Amino acid sequence: MALITEGRLMDQVALVTGATSGIGEAIARRFGAEGARVAVVGRDHERGEAVARSIAEVGGTAQFFAADVTSDDAVGSLVRAVLDRFGGLDIVVNNAGLSVPGNVVDTAPAQWDALFRINVRSAYLVSHHTLPHLLACGAGSVINISSEAGLKGLKDRAAYCAAKAALVGLTKAMAVDHSPHRIRINCICPGTVETPMVRRLIDSDADPLAMKKAFLQRRLTPHLGSPEDIAEAAVYFALPGNGYVTGAVLSVDGGSLAR
Ligand SMILES: NC(=O)c1ccc[n+]([C@@H]2O[C@H](COP(=O)([O-])OP(=O)(O)OC[C@H]3O[C@@H](n4cnc5c(N)ncnc54)[C@H](OP(=O)(O)O)[C@@H]3O)[C@@H](O)[C@H]2O)c1
Repeated sequence: MALITEGRLMDQVALVTGATSGIGEAIARRFGAEGARVAVVGRDHERGEAVARSIAEVGGTAQFFAADVTSDDAVGSLVRAVLDRFGGLDIVVNNAGLSVPGNVVDTAPAQWDALFRINVRSAYLVSHHTLPHLLACGAGSVINISSEAGLKGLKDRAAYCAAKAALVGLTKAMAVDHSPHRIRINCICPGTVETPMVRRLIDSDADPLAMKKAFLQRRLTPHLGSPEDIAEAAVYFALPGNGYVTGAVLSVDGGSLAR
């Protein structure tokens, strides 16, 4: 099988967290198809190896790196391993995340903390460990995956809305700090995308059909999003030529925010 020799991300190295499933998997595959060498990051070895293999099967280059991205030590080791393997790093996608239902009354403190650890602390830690390298190279793109929940209030998603809003704030603060040094920091806010995370949410609801209908009713489109819709937006932010695009918050949500 022929190796990929052309693509919009040739010669780029990308690290994608939460790439063993859903949106992150689609971003990793898409980056690989565009010629990037991809570090597929997650905790599930079987799924991670399968994603890396699927990229190699179409002529791309990828390796699975197992890491819990809420752990400072694990993220430090991860970044060193990726740099050792690929000799550089150009694109970082902070995608690992989790949504759990609940308002502030029925969200337990431990659940609140866990949600912030995976959605916010992980993005901070991965940025903390990768930015020094990007800054030394004088170029790079960081893409944070927030949510429509970061831009509006959603019923029974108090911790998730707060965590995803924090990612929007982190994006803007990082853009202010690092864009003068040619590091572009942008954020994508997906609306509901059919992934394992969303399927788990729907299946665990007392009325799964009503929940799916509610997801659809928030949109102007007659359908929910696909992981590939989000991957396309990520490619846009990753393109090295898009040097003027930083500090942006892009909704890819079927028009949910327009209501
Ligand atoms: N789906 C949607 O409708 C939607 C909408 C807006 C925003 N988002 C956001 O998009 C991102 C991806 O969501 P998804 O729907 O694709 O979810 P998903 O299919 O459940 O995937 C979540 C990913 O996060 C990884 N992950 C979770 N905890 C981790 C940890 N401690 N360390 C390392 N990796 C960890 C999982 O990897 P392992 O299982 O291998 O650990 C998995 O690859 C999330 O940030 C989510 O909030 C999703």
